[in-house]
Amino acid sequence: MHHNPLFLALDLPRLDAAEALARKVKSHIGGLKLGLEFFCAHGHHGVHEIAKIGLPLFLDLKLHDIPNTVAAAMQAIHVLEPSIVTIHAAGGRAMMEDAKAAAGEHCKVVAVTVLTSLDDGDLAATGISGTPHAQALRLAELAHSAGLDGIVCSGHEVGDVRRQWKDGFFIVPGLRPAEGNGKPNGHAHGDQKRTVTPREARDAGASVLVIGRPISRAEDPIAAARAIEATL
Ligand code: C5P
Repeated sequence: MHHNPLFLALDLPRLDAAEALARKVKSHIGGLKLGLEFFCAHGHHGVHEIAKIGLPLFLDLKLHDIPNTVAAAMQAIHVLEPSIVTIHAAGGRAMMEDAKAAAGEHCKVVAVTVLTSLDDGDLAATGISGTPHAQALRLAELAHSAGLDGIVCSGHEVGDVRRQWKDGFFIVPGLRPAEGNGKPNGHAHGDQKRTVTPREARDAGASVLVIGRPISRAEDPIAAARAIEATL
């Protein structure tokens, strides 16, 4: 069986609930994503508990500080043996180089470019002219030249990014399964944007597909995870 690219985002406030969900769907996913909220709430203890499930861990910490501090933080999480850690490309070349140098041999260090919560006006207010898209491309190039493994990008961008960076490791969140592909309930998109399915993102070159609420909020998470897995 080939490697499963699905990483379940465990964005649940309670550690016991997160652990129970992960155990339920573990045979249908390839890894687990723990974010800043989880890490601040449950720390190393929480990560150790989730690690017992036996799946690769993605620590989505989006680190951003001076190079020395980010490198020290990378060393401090080494003991957790994450497969993937995120840092902000906006921290600059030296920060990215030092983070990569401090990471474990088997840990992918992946850059966040521009947060999708920022629009042109928000960027302008921080002194960055141009579109979020142009800024994201600039930071992706910087991450590549700094020796990172890849970037986080949307399902709309991953095809173009893959053409530019052939051996990159690309993480795609914000995915929504197609309606009626075996899910127990139709899932509300919650916004008007055209969404990308896990299959479309994988075909466009995604290395990791991050899925949260379509599984965690499904009436039957096992059925939801199995249905998504079956499309890949
Ligand atoms: O929307 P969903 O629950 O599937 O989100 C899964 C994960 O992807 C969440 O942890 C969210 O923080 C992350 N995400 C992201 N960037 C986006 C959209 C979602 O990092 N643009």
